[in-house]
Formats: sequence, structure tokens, C-alpha cells
Amino acid sequence: MIKIDINNELKYIEKVRKINEGKNIKYYILTMGCQLNENDSEKICGMLENMGYAKTDDINNADLVIYNTCCVRENAEEKLFGKLGEVKKLKEAKGTIIAIGGCMMQEKHIVDKIKKSYKYDVIFGTHTLHKFPQDLYNAIIENKKVTDILDIDGEIIEGLPIKREDNIRASVTIMNGCNNFCTYCIVPYVRGRERSRAPEDILNEIKELAKKGYKEVTLLGQNVNSYMRVERERGEAISEINSFSKLLKSVNEIEGIEKIRFISPHPKDFTDGVIESIRECKKVSKFIHLPLQSGSSKVLKVMNRVYTKEQYLSLIEKMKKTIPDVRFSTDIIVGFPGETEEDFEDTLDVVRKVKFEQIFMFIYSRRKGTPADKMEEQVPEEIKHKRFDRLKALYEEIIAENNKEYIGTVQDILVEGYSKTNDSFLTGRTDSNKVVIFEGDSDLIGKITKVKIISEHMWYLRGEVIKELRLEKN
Ligand code: 5AD
Ligand code: SF4
Repeated sequence: MIKIDINNELKYIEKVRKINEGKNIKYYILTMGCQLNENDSEKICGMLENMGYAKTDDINNADLVIYNTCCVRENAEEKLFGKLGEVKKLKEAKGTIIAIGGCMMQEKHIVDKIKKSYKYDVIFGTHTLHKFPQDLYNAIIENKKVTDILDIDGEIIEGLPIKREDNIRASVTIMNGCNNFCTYCIVPYVRGRERSRAPEDILNEIKELAKKGYKEVTLLGQNVNSYMRVERERGEAISEINSFSKLLKSVNEIEGIEKIRFISPHPKDFTDGVIESIRECKKVSKFIHLPLQSGSSKVLKVMNRVYTKEQYLSLIEKMKKTIPDVRFSTDIIVGFPGETEEDFEDTLDVVRKVKFEQIFMFIYSRRKGTPADKMEEQVPEEIKHKRFDRLKALYEEIIAENNKEYIGTVQDILVEGYSKTNDSFLTGRTDSNKVVIFEGDSDLIGKITKVKIISEHMWYLRGEVIKELRLEKN
């Protein structure tokens, strides 16, 4: 495990802060993609605020605009180029500094296209996040166009400042990169090989969060349950806590943290140890994200997912037997090359059997440099869209069915605050991530509260706070 020394980089934070002093300088940031990117953006915001920048949600007011990009599907690419077209006018009118970072910048053809056709000041990648202050300094002071991309990986960056979006729930990246090379996926090429943070660094970060009053943590990684796997195999995992199951148990012991979630796991790394930790650790959510991708064993093989339909279903069965009240969410891709009607029916079959609480549905998107992009039997767009609509219809049927099961039940809800759509209601989520709104006092915010579900409304549930609990207090 190579920890990068960032002290030299952090000196640039101070340098830029001096330049910005007394100037009321503002930044605007747009984050695309997954929670790992959002967590990186929180670090970018942390660095920027230490450099004297204040956040604005109005791009027209910003002196600095940052795009933190994603490249998992093509629509993110289109979105970025649209945004770069728009921000060009701002740069021409008032000299706005433009910085572009994230996964898409690890793709050479994209960087070449930006350099050729768009305006920018800084391009930084996923392995150079910590150098952002230095890159920005060079762009502002030296008036240079800076491109700072590295292909090397294996590094761990600790100690970057962070400005978190929320004050009750926090994300903590525990590992980075992916070694799985699913044939449709670009992530291993842009995020590099798997490497895990040292357990003591993770646990210290979570203890600090607990001290600040955070109640819920989500452990993040591209393949979160293979935490420490490569280090273990190389004999580098020196701590007692050398696996995901042990890490869960250690986080479960941190006082003040009440709920632990994690994404995204891979079915192949769901060992009996991980299942046992979920069952035994009270604070670990029993709502498991288990990416299926396809229900067809044939397609799964070509995807390099290393499990069959039957193995996936028996893993679900095993968890249902072992973990009381376990529920599942999943990711599904429709229209992977070679997917026939029969294959797609297999996917629908698994969806019917598992009755997922939440499905993230994706239309297969060709990614340059991945094996699936070169496969001959690409599915026509029209068929992909029709299958997507059929899956969505089934999903909606299942949500309605699942929702009914909640009515009359009492749920432990971590109260997050007032509902954004109606501020006379408080809002929170069930363990299974369903939004629940209910009336209640502001002193419930940040506490786990018993709420009885009284009605269902497709995308949210209505509830009422259990009165006995309120009486007890008085
Ligand atoms: N096309 C469509 N969906 C994809 N995903 C990853 N790569 C692609 C692609 N090329 C989906 C997978 C993954 C989720 C984060 O994004 O379902 O689990
Ligand atoms: Fe991509 Fe597969 Fe790795 Fe997930 S496990 S990031 S889908 S290669």
C-alpha cells in the first residue's frame, strides 16, 4: 500500500488562499456519476474552501467552475460537452476559470477532444485529485493551461480536507479501483487497480464523524466487499482487520454511529463471513445492494460476472434464510450484446423472484476500450428501449406490491430533516431506503424514531410517529 505524501500539495492551498484573501471569490461545482465521485467532490470542496473560495449554486456568479465527470455511460459524456459549450460564453465574458476532473479525464480521446474544441484551464484525473491546489495555482498565477493526468495507480491518498454535504449521513471511501473487468465496464480502466485504505485510517475517520454528530455512514468502493483482498493475497494486510467482514464488525463498535450501509458489493465477494457480519452487527443495514446486471447465465458469462443465474438466486436465498428482514436492491443492464428475448426473460424472472425494493436500470452503453464494445451482436437501440420499458413496468408493479407490505408496520427511521417538497413534514428513510414523511417536532432530527406506516404513494410512504415514545419522554 503506497500512501502518497500530500504535504507538499497542501502548501499550495495556503498559496492560493493568500491570493484570494479579501476577494470574495466563488466556485460552482457539478458532480456527475456515482457516490464515489460525490465523495471526491466533497474533497475538492474541502480543498477549495481552505483556499478561500465560497460555494455558489449560480454558475453565473462563479469565478471558478469545476466539473467532476463520470464516464460509465455515454449520456454523461454528452452532458459534459453540452456544459462545456455553455460555460465557454461565461469564460469569454468574464474570464471564469474552468477545471474538469474525474473519470472521463482518464480517457485520452476525451482529453484530446476537449483540448481541440473547448475552453478549459485545468484538467485533472482520478489519480491527481490531491494535486488540484497546485494545478489551480499554476493555472491562475502562471496563466497556463494545465493537464495533470496520471496512469499509475495503487496509491492511497489520506488527509485531504473535506467539506461534507450533510451533517447526519456521511460517505467514507474504503477502497478504490476494481480488478473485475466486467466486459461492459470502463471503471477498471479509469479508476485503476483495487487498493484499500488502512483500517485504522477508516476507523479514525468514522470516529471523528461520530464525534461531530454523524449517525449514518456509507462505506464506499467500486467493489466494496473485496476490501483488503489484494493486500491479503500479497501478504500486505498487516492489521487484524484484514477483510470486509472484520471491518464491518469494527465499524459497528463505534459509539454514536447508528447505521452502517455499503455500496457497491459484488456477489462473488459475498462470503459467509460478510453475511454473518451483516446478521450479527445491529447497526449494519439489512438492505443489501446486490448488482445482478443480467438474469441470463449466458449473458453473465460473456459479461465476466463469474456467477450464474442459479448462483445469484441461491445467494439471495441464503441471505434470506440467515438475515431476518433482509431486502435487496440491484443494478440491471438491458441490451448487452447478444442478449436475446430469452435472456431478457431470465432477467425478468429474477426480478419477479427476488422482488427487489429498488432497481437501478441501465440501457447498455458502448464504452470505447471495453471488450463488449467490440462484440458483434450489438442489440438495436429500439429493442433496448422496449426491453427497458418492460423492465420498468415490472419494477413499478413490484414496488406497489412491496409498498403494501409496509402498511401497518413500525419502522426505525433516522430523521434527516424537513421534507424538501413540504416543510410541514419531517422526512427520513426506512432501513430499505424508502422515503417516509411524517409530522413531528424538529427535536426528532438526527434521532432514530419509531414511525408507523399509514399509507403508500409509489415513491414514498406516509407515517406517524408512535405516540407512546413521545409520552415516555414527557
Ligand atoms: N452500460 C450500461 N450500464 C453500465 N454500467 C456500467 N457500465 C455500463 C455500461 N457500459 C452500470 C452497471 C453498474 C452501474 C454502476 O452502472 O449496472 O453496476
Ligand atoms: Fe465495473 Fe464490474 Fe468493477 Fe463494478 S465490478 S466497477 S461493474 S468492472
